[in-house]
Amino acid sequence: MASLLAFADYWWSWADLLVRWLHVIAGIAWIGASFYFIALDNHLKPRAGADELAGEAWEIHGGGFYRVEKYRVAPRALPEPLYWFKWEAYTTWLSGFALLIVVYYAHASTFLVDRTVADLSTHEAIALSIAGLVVAWLVYDGLCRVLGRVPLALAAALLGFIALAAWGAGRLFAARAAYIEVGAMIGTMMVGNVFFVIIPAHWELIRAKQQGREPDARWNARAKLRSVHNNYLTLPVVFAMLSNHFAFTYAHTHAWLILVVLMVLGAWTRHYFNLRHRGRNAWWILVTAAAGVVALAVLIRPGGGGNVAASGPPPSFAQVQAIVQQRCSPCHSMHPSQPGYSAPPLDIRFDTGTEIEQQAGLIAQMAVHTDAMPPGNVTNMTPAERSTLARWLATR
Ligand code: HEC
Repeated sequence: MASLLAFADYWWSWADLLVRWLHVIAGIAWIGASFYFIALDNHLKPRAGADELAGEAWEIHGGGFYRVEKYRVAPRALPEPLYWFKWEAYTTWLSGFALLIVVYYAHASTFLVDRTVADLSTHEAIALSIAGLVVAWLVYDGLCRVLGRVPLALAAALLGFIALAAWGAGRLFAARAAYIEVGAMIGTMMVGNVFFVIIPAHWELIRAKQQGREPDARWNARAKLRSVHNNYLTLPVVFAMLSNHFAFTYAHTHAWLILVVLMVLGAWTRHYFNLRHRGRNAWWILVTAAAGVVALAVLIRPGGGGNVAASGPPPSFAQVQAIVQQRCSPCHSMHPSQPGYSAPPLDIRFDTGTEIEQQAGLIAQMAVHTDAMPPGNVTNMTPAERSTLARWLATR
């Protein structure tokens, strides 16, 4: 039975690897195209005597000169072939959703549910996570329709919604999953923009040409607006997707606020580059973004023993070892006893005293400064045990 489980685990890891690979590649292609076209738009210069053009730009790349023209609405005759950009976005979302299944939904009791956060069954948690994606699109799209003409109000409302989502996810899911959920919600807004607004607008422009009508420039504007939104949402989403490696963010007591702050700083940084492509070097945006990151880093630094008290007499190493063996080694062992684990996660093992000593810094990071480990606190580690570890760490 054990070897059968290990076997399934092995193939599951391949699924994880391949889907993740695809997700990152598709994401790069999507974001790359998005960044490119926004920059191109901002580079456009009007050409005298060419009223049908929004502008043109000269570029040099990969050993060649390119001259790109953008039409205000549409060219006189539909060109053939005409290249579309949509599969990058769809593949990113589909592979991202597949990753949610492979990593979070299939191991929901460890990675999605944390009973110290919310007493949910795995099915409830999965249903809530999927519902979150749908709600994200509906709310965002609704906000765009109502506030589309007032960009600042829309930005404020969207920020409020994302903050609410971050707070809510933190009250429903395990800390790591909460960040991913918010990232997936924003990613869903972005792909929704492509699927429900941008691509249909392109079809509308094309149908008008085919039927010999003058295309309505409002379709261009509508698609452009959502495309710009996507551009600003990119850095926030990418941070959410990388956050899993940084327990000092997602496992902090104020994790949701940290997420919101880093997302705002990401969008703010994007704004710098968008202005720069238009020829404005608003360096103070980068400076304030950097200052924001430093201020955040200082504010959330682990003080003394971290989020648990480190005062009191130091414990014996035997006590420390007993705690780690009981709470961590069920998974972090050459031969894990925790069901569903056939090998130590990330090859991190705490079988011997030396292994514990050598990885004290990691233990501090994951189980003392934060309670990122054990995931979902599945081995029921107590605050008293964390504080014992803190007292041990303080003597080192
Ligand atoms: C239920 C199984 C389980 C238990 C119990 C557990 N861990 Fe983990 N741990 C994991 C998994 C799975 C990962 C890999 C997460 C990932 O994929 O990023 C991990 C990752 C880690 C990492 C690496 C984190 C990183 O992102 O670099 C450290 C350090 C760690 N655990 C320490 C501990 C400590 C200390 C304990 C006990 C207090 C503990 N773990 C208990 C499953 C467990």
